[in-house]
Amino acid sequence: MSDNAILAISARAAELCAQGTDVISLAAGEPDLPTPANVTAAAARAAADPAYHRYGSAAGLPELRSLAADRLATATGLPWNAEDIQITLGTKHALALALQAVLGPDEDVLVTSPGWPGHHGAVQAAGGRVRSIPVRAEDRFLATPQTLDLALTGRTRAVILASPGNPVGAVYPRELLADIADWALRHDVWIIADDIYDQFVYDGPHTTLLAAAPRARDRCIVVNGVSKAHAMTGWRIGWLAGPASVVAHAFRNVSQTITHVPLITQAAAIEALAGDQRPLHEARTRYRANRDLLTDALNTLPGIDCPRPSGGLYVFPSVAALLARHPERWTSAADVAAWLLDTAHVAAVPGEVFHAPNHLRLCFAVSDTAVREAIQRLCRAFETLT
Ligand SMILES: Cc1ncc(COP(=O)(O)O)c(C=O)c1O
Repeated sequence: MSDNAILAISARAAELCAQGTDVISLAAGEPDLPTPANVTAAAARAAADPAYHRYGSAAGLPELRSLAADRLATATGLPWNAEDIQITLGTKHALALALQAVLGPDEDVLVTSPGWPGHHGAVQAAGGRVRSIPVRAEDRFLATPQTLDLALTGRTRAVILASPGNPVGAVYPRELLADIADWALRHDVWIIADDIYDQFVYDGPHTTLLAAAPRARDRCIVVNGVSKAHAMTGWRIGWLAGPASVVAHAFRNVSQTITHVPLITQAAAIEALAGDQRPLHEARTRYRANRDLLTDALNTLPGIDCPRPSGGLYVFPSVAALLARHPERWTSAADVAAWLLDTAHVAAVPGEVFHAPNHLRLCFAVSDTAVREAIQRLCRAFETLT
């Protein structure tokens, strides 16, 4: 299964909705809020301004690059300038450009498993090979230098680390980030820090890798964007920050392919970063409460074991015990997800998508009403099981 399977499940849920079934979708990988009004207003202003109607710089609007640099300076405690930033078509594009900049043919990239299939896709598209780093619930789904050692080969060129991650929501503590950075420096491996969920950390501050290990600056590429934090997944704005050679490579690629990221969406992203941050703070508060509601409720269901994620937008319960109890009914998490959709009209993503066949992923970046209703439906569906 691939990233497309997530879209397929969302589409199936949408199809049921179109037939009049009231489906609650916890399958999407994005906040269900509209983009904040100040951001859409900034886009409307830009659309009416001829200055945004012509070609712009391939690197991105200077103001947006500066804002991304400032954000990174605050997060890392290191100096960053607009020149260190390349604006991209979302974080996925930034990942692709980062990998293309550092990978040679058939080189290996280490990626956590369970993990987001987009990381696999980006590695393969850049001509690399994925080597999985198995991470386990009992280790809070965290990779360590020891697990990285097991995946290391003579051809390992990079490791991708998302903190918080998708689907597991693991947040890397500072000391572990420092150890992983030292491991990467020792083995001459690039670190790609995927910080797309950095605004959604619930039990303490977020630490980005370079804050923990400034010494890794020449070996680290940070990718991020406005998609999740500012409810802007459809606007496609991200960025890459890294050493000059990597940024120059990304600049050339953007210049020769897409020319530049559309100026109107860049103007919207400027407002998202520089304008009123209350929508983000409100979203974070709501998602934290939703995370707790959903985790607690799932743990009351027989056969479900749901670790409380420290960050991100998803819970990732194990259904292994449920499958073991009902071998006559189900053989995989995909079967359970299909049953939930049909019986409870709640859409979840089967763990197979993330190489975790005994899990489900449920997104809590929805309204609290939707979470409460989903919980009631799940409880009712489980009552029918004997
Ligand atoms: C870990 C991770 N990185 C990157 C992305 C892509 O973000 P964007 O929409 O900015 O391309 C996602 C989207 O789901 C993600 O989960």
